[in-house]
Amino acid sequence: MFQNKALILRALSLAFLLSLQGAEAIKADHISTYEEFVQTHRPSGEYMFEFDEDEMFYVDLDKKETVWHLPEFGRAFSFEAQGGLANIAIMKSNLNVMIKRSNHTQATSEPPEVTVFPKEPVELGRPNTLICHLDKFFPPVLNVTWLRNGQPVTEGVGESLFLPRTDYSFHKFHYLTFVPSAEDFYDCKAEHWGLDEPLLKHWEAQEPIQMPETTETVVCALGLAVGLVGIIAGTTLITRALRSSSDPRARGPL
Ligand SMILES: *[C@@H]1O[C@H](CO)[C@@H](O)[C@H](O)[C@H]1NC(C)=O
Ligand SMILES: *[C@@H]1O[C@H](CO)[C@@H](O)[C@H](O)[C@H]1NC(C)=O
Repeated sequence: MFQNKALILRALSLAFLLSLQGAEAIKADHISTYEEFVQTHRPSGEYMFEFDEDEMFYVDLDKKETVWHLPEFGRAFSFEAQGGLANIAIMKSNLNVMIKRSNHTQATSEPPEVTVFPKEPVELGRPNTLICHLDKFFPPVLNVTWLRNGQPVTEGVGESLFLPRTDYSFHKFHYLTFVPSAEDFYDCKAEHWGLDEPLLKHWEAQEPIQMPETTETVVCALGLAVGLVGIIAGTTLITRALRSSSDPRARGPL
């Protein structure tokens, strides 16, 4: 079982070396690139087109269709998914050759570095998005789950593609829309072959975010009370001091 896994990993790294960075065209200060990889695990591959480092579209390899990052792109441009699929098919056959040629040598997995942060400044009751960033991992095989109070959440979740880094590893984003409350806590749970056990990255709203009005009133009243006590004590002391200074018995000999 373990050996099987190792074989696949090596295939992945070879495939990626073979396939990194497709055509690069520089035209009028804009750079468009495509990124692609194939591997023997899910996802079996990825074909993505970028324009000035923003994702424009990817080809859904199962549905065999172009998926535009923004619907407007699809109205303004067109891309024949078949072109991407043909590339992927060639890379898959190269991958099989390389697996044999490498004698199924194993490569190491690099575990993800995981951070969780909110998209907007947190305000109780105001809808927001939690972002889980998984960075510097290899191969691009991941399971990511959001947990709210320890329970898996499937509503309001989203994710990016596997995004290639220049060092042959990958990064990826997962999203969860949520309404911050003082009671709820969240975890981004990541599974990867580079990790001995699932990694949970915790997030919860910092306390106190905003004092409820009643607390504010109590604090204000206490402050006022302390102030008044101070004034009374001060007045009493001054009065005593004045009295004793006007008391002839308290006067020293002249
Ligand atoms: C391939 O690996 C097998 C098993 O580890 C080994 O017996 C064989 O000698 C290797 N072949 C080459 C060409 O390296
Ligand atoms: C992801 O989850 C599936 C189903 O539970 C499991 O078979 C697979 O090994 C997991 N992948 C990783 C990278 O842990």
